Amino acid sequence: MSQASEETREHWSGSLAFVLAAVGSAVGLGNVWKFPYITGMHGGGAFVLVYLGCIALVGLPILMAEMVVGRRSQAGPVGAFRSLAAPDRGGKLWSIWGYFAILTGFLLLSFYSVVGGWTVAYALKSVFGQFASGTPSEIKAMFGAYSGDPVSSTMSHAIFMVVTIGVVYSGVSKGIERAARTLMPLFFLLLIFLLGYATATTGFGEAMNFMFQPNFSDLTAAGILEALGHSFFTLSLGMGAVIIYGSYLPKDSTLYGSAIAIGFFDTFVALTAGVVIFTIVFSQGMAPGSGPSLVFETMPVLFSQIPYGSLLSTAFFTLLAFAALTSGISLLEVVVSFFVEEFDMDRHLAALSLGGAIFFFGLLSVLSNSLLADFKPFGATIFGNLDYFISNWALPLGGFGVAVFAGWGVDRDEWWDEMKDDWFGRTAFRGWLFLTRVVAPLAIILILMNLMGFLSLEA
Ligand code: PFF
Repeated sequence: MSQASEETREHWSGSLAFVLAAVGSAVGLGNVWKFPYITGMHGGGAFVLVYLGCIALVGLPILMAEMVVGRRSQAGPVGAFRSLAAPDRGGKLWSIWGYFAILTGFLLLSFYSVVGGWTVAYALKSVFGQFASGTPSEIKAMFGAYSGDPVSSTMSHAIFMVVTIGVVYSGVSKGIERAARTLMPLFFLLLIFLLGYATATTGFGEAMNFMFQPNFSDLTAAGILEALGHSFFTLSLGMGAVIIYGSYLPKDSTLYGSAIAIGFFDTFVALTAGVVIFTIVFSQGMAPGSGPSLVFETMPVLFSQIPYGSLLSTAFFTLLAFAALTSGISLLEVVVSFFVEEFDMDRHLAALSLGGAIFFFGLLSVLSNSLLADFKPFGATIFGNLDYFISNWALPLGGFGVAVFAGWGVDRDEWWDEMKDDWFGRTAFRGWLFLTRVVAPLAIILILMNLMGFLSLEA
């Protein structure tokens, strides 16, 4: 193994660059596509409140745990688990959890890139005004036609992977940091532009009520667990992305401050995207609970019916594509940095070969909507199986591993030594440790027990 020392390892230029890159990883399809539709399905306000609680009590402590694991070890998940674990508390066996994270990153990017490709295609379709005319059913049908066409969906998956590979190929500061510095501010500008549009639209008040007026009779136990599970996905937890980004943190950066900033921006984007989308949905008198097709079927129909629809739809899908791209970059970085650190592989070669392998593996997901649509092991397509297994099992399990590792597998003094100079002090440290040791693992056990059917919760 060759583990770069702190001096030779590439680092972010400072805390701000790290926060931008980590926000880039966190803010993605999870915020703009998934959060609004699950909020719609679970009835709005009360679900949002529970989600905020999950982010604060489970998401943020694990985010901090991943950051500190990365910064302390100056290594990716495998090296980090191996080097930090106390010998009498599992020792090197912990690195198995690191390998699991690398595999999760590989598999997650293979289908994330397919959806990322759709957003690129939809941004281009909007530029060419393809949603400007046509009946609602014609516009809706465009999604099935696009995702069901093996050639075009392979092309968009390829475009998404080529750009992702290009950024990771260029390295931490010249590639990832630069992409985050350019794309994230643009992303926020587009989001504010869409929010501005929403405030001037009739459905805005109704959307605000829907999102922020809790009605607890709409909340189900299944909704609570969905909120908890989503807090992992949305903060990019449980598969080493934050560990590797944390490992590029200079020692003098603030961990608490960065974690709070990342949690804040990620939540801000999810809530704003929800408000924008529901404003448009309500202004057209539609129901909010249409599910996963909300972004690719409902939104284009709505854009076709409103003034400046093509412009808004271009802004919306470009924003989604940027968000997906900066998340895809962090997924590829987990896999690439593993081969660079553990096998001394050249970064360029690693980015090209592993990115290429993910592209080819991803074809199974691309074709799940066309040539392989009838191939359904375990009752779902390959794409469906991967999405289900990774989002519901692998990320919570990975998060559980990090929480137990940071809470119990490493000596407490090691953490205190790493965090004592942070100006939040000893009380914040104790609070973090308690949440990481007790609250987060218990919450994850609840999710997993629910999945195994011990707690059969109605939807
Ligand atoms: N956080 C991303 C999103 O919300 O879309 C998804 C993701 C990216 C999950 C990177 C995990 C990860 F490591």
